[in-house]
Amino acid sequence: MELSELIKEMVATPSPIRQIMKMASRQNIINMGLNPDEIISYGGGWVGHHPPEELREAYEEICRDAEKFHDAGKYSPTLGFDECREAIAEMEKELFGVKLGIENIIVGQSSTQLTHDLFITLANPGDKILLFDPTYANYPGQIKMALRDAKIVRQRVLDVERWEYKSEEEMAEDFKEIYEREKPKIVLFPSPDNPSSQVFGDKFVKTIADICYEGNSFMIIDYAYKTQCFITPPSYFSWSPSDYPNMIAVHSNSKWGRGLGRRLGWVDASPDVIDAMERVQQCSILCPDTMHQFAFLAYVKRALQDGSLKRYLEEVKEGYRKAAKLTIEAIKEYLDMPCLVPQGGLYTLMKVGEDSDEFVKRVLKNTGVLFIPGKGFGESLKEAVRISYGPHVENIDVIKEGFKRVAEYLGKS
Ligand SMILES: Cc1ncc(COP(=O)(O)O)c(C=O)c1O
Repeated sequence: MELSELIKEMVATPSPIRQIMKMASRQNIINMGLNPDEIISYGGGWVGHHPPEELREAYEEICRDAEKFHDAGKYSPTLGFDECREAIAEMEKELFGVKLGIENIIVGQSSTQLTHDLFITLANPGDKILLFDPTYANYPGQIKMALRDAKIVRQRVLDVERWEYKSEEEMAEDFKEIYEREKPKIVLFPSPDNPSSQVFGDKFVKTIADICYEGNSFMIIDYAYKTQCFITPPSYFSWSPSDYPNMIAVHSNSKWGRGLGRRLGWVDASPDVIDAMERVQQCSILCPDTMHQFAFLAYVKRALQDGSLKRYLEEVKEGYRKAAKLTIEAIKEYLDMPCLVPQGGLYTLMKVGEDSDEFVKRVLKNTGVLFIPGKGFGESLKEAVRISYGPHVENIDVIKEGFKRVAEYLGKS
């Protein structure tokens, strides 16, 4: 049996995050002589809050009625239902002031799938893609899968000595230099970021947008955590494709609506990009899920009208802000290792001052506490771990407990 060259290469370089999550599987934990029920995991890149009750009811309404359920089984148009795209446009306007028409929106299965389709839509296999270091660990594999030999160019955004993100001015200068040298076709970054939970500033993002516009490149912002921004939102959160025709925003209801395994994604961009993506999506998924669009549409229309969407998002955000604060306080109290203060999202990065693959294995075996080693996010994190408070947001007492255990093991308490 002979698999493709591409997949043989990809299997030979597995995602480091998946590997560590496998190491922390129930059976492996038992094999290590630990009790799986006593594991405290800071590994999960997901949210733990509940979805809006009214969204659950929207699904219930469809399921209760035989005809509605039947209708929810039909194919959707490739771009998504017009009504759903209208509701997304309304939601973006109401929440962030983004001006969109349905011609600016394509609905897809998730931001993972849409990002894959964007690579196919925007770049050729020999092009360069600029990613930050650190950045979301899935991008390099996705680029390889979609574009084979595309070259990934990295821009360091973290000052490893000071354990702080560089100033906006410094990042902008670095960007200009790298862009001039490499001429990337796409610049892609999340904001709020995974794994750092930093929100990139207006000056830096405007520099990227202007340079990409002049140089005919695309700037893609991954907004997986847009509604979980703890600081005053930067002004680019409200930019529209009419402001920057080469700016593309990728969205998902994985994180805000706790739709991780029940999700929809969408892209907003200029109509040319949307038209091109329609052709790509015909080949990748044919069309987005109808049931999720119907439920989302029913929920969002109502929740925008009665103001409950804003209230829900505000409550959710407060929950994560509180969990983030508690995490930082617990790290200071028990471990006193340098860590980043989250500005949004689900994570912090902690500098451990030794090879983090080894650190994570040692800590897991001896304490039953799981961190994610940083290397998968970029070289700058080879001596750091990603700590996620996301899964614990409804059970924040557990956050402290893990750090206490690790401190005891490291002889810090
Ligand atoms: C930055 C970022 N983008 C995209 C995703 C995946 O999004 P989706 O669930 O819509 O595929 C994640 C998930 O963790 C993420 O952190």
